[in-house]
Amino acid sequence: MTQFKQLSFWSDAEPLECVTRTPEAPNVVTFSFQSPSGALFNHDPGQFVTLELPAPGGPLYRTYTISSAPSRPTALTITVKAQDGSTGTRWMLDNLHKGMRIRASGPAGKFSIVHHPADKYLFISAGSGITPMVAMTTWLYDSGREPDIVFINCARRPSEIILRDRIELMASRIVGIDLKWVVEEPDPFRPWTGYRGIFNQIMLGLIAQDYLEREVFCCGAEPFMRAVREALAGLGFDMDRYHQESFTAEPAHAEDVPEDVVPDEQNQAEIAFALSGITAKCKETDSILAAAKAVGLVIPSGCAMGICGTCKVRKTEGQVHMVHNGGITDEDVEDGYILACCSKPLGRVSVEA
Ligand SMILES: Cc1cc2nc3c(=O)[nH]c(=O)nc-3n(C[C@H](O)[C@H](O)[C@H](O)COP(=O)(O)OP(=O)(O)OC[C@H]3O[C@@H](n4cnc5c(N)ncnc54)[C@H](O)[C@@H]3O)c2cc1C
Ligand code: FES
Repeated sequence: MTQFKQLSFWSDAEPLECVTRTPEAPNVVTFSFQSPSGALFNHDPGQFVTLELPAPGGPLYRTYTISSAPSRPTALTITVKAQDGSTGTRWMLDNLHKGMRIRASGPAGKFSIVHHPADKYLFISAGSGITPMVAMTTWLYDSGREPDIVFINCARRPSEIILRDRIELMASRIVGIDLKWVVEEPDPFRPWTGYRGIFNQIMLGLIAQDYLEREVFCCGAEPFMRAVREALAGLGFDMDRYHQESFTAEPAHAEDVPEDVVPDEQNQAEIAFALSGITAKCKETDSILAAAKAVGLVIPSGCAMGICGTCKVRKTEGQVHMVHNGGITDEDVEDGYILACCSKPLGRVSVEA
């Protein structure tokens, strides 16, 4: 059995060892990891890790929210759902078993209640977007104080609700977790007494009458999050108190780019990959990641939308147009780093890759 070393915390220089796998719902599994050295896990509830999956044909990088809370530091869990056509997550479901070690980077991410402390929360999610909400709820539950959380999760059917048992157990043992499930349709021959339909403004008003007083955290597919944003904004909610995590959306901060110069499809660009000695010619509208791939160079990447930070490389020459989603810090940018997945070359650029 692993001996845990108090006050020694895991860093991503060490691999993660899979210790258990738990089926949650169709095509959904929770993997639990420990550090081989016995180091403990310390992260903000809601943060994610990016795993390097040793799939055939080269590693795949995939980003997953840590579904466990730092108040339970002896293991780190992720809960993954393989959609139709999945390669990375499907590989995990088929191949990742107890005893295997895999590399990971992180933890990273800013989607956490630690950055937005409040007396009352509204956690609203759809599908696998429930994972950061479970981590944050567990953390509040473990604090020993009574939380005030309205927890809404939307799923296609009751049998597809992810981590339902875990959240219902917490809600049944403490006052202050007001749990509401919304499904599109019931399972055949299984009576359903919860909400039914597509989440809308009327449901919000019925479920959380004091929503105006709550700090809102939202996670799910972009159309779902758009519907929640529109519902809240339409009801006069202060959107500074709305926070969201996107698993798949396009970069959200294009309008924040400080440069006047924007990539032009008509303009040619040239990227020198200094470490590999390869130069790629491309359009200014191609990302550095795509240009690298086109010349057979692999820059590890996890999300392809500027969130996870996996594709960070150092730029030593030239200018790029970078539109990210929080995957890089201001300090890193000052030190010359860029995210290859969401940086487009303006003219000639040189990067350390
Ligand atoms: C912050 C964050 C947290 C997330 N948390 C969770 C979670 O808790 N649970 C969960 O199930 N999912 C989570 N996801 C989504 C997850 O990262 C995957 O996108 C999703 O599981 C689909 O990956 P796949 O391998 O199943 O599907 P695939 O279809 O194989 O891949 C999906 C995405 O990966 C890109 N991609 C495909 N091949 C490669 C490659 N070789 N290199 C790089 N990118 C590639 C594709 O462009 C596509 O966007 C999270 C994503 C983000 C950004
Ligand atoms: S791949 Fe995630 S930030 Fe670029």
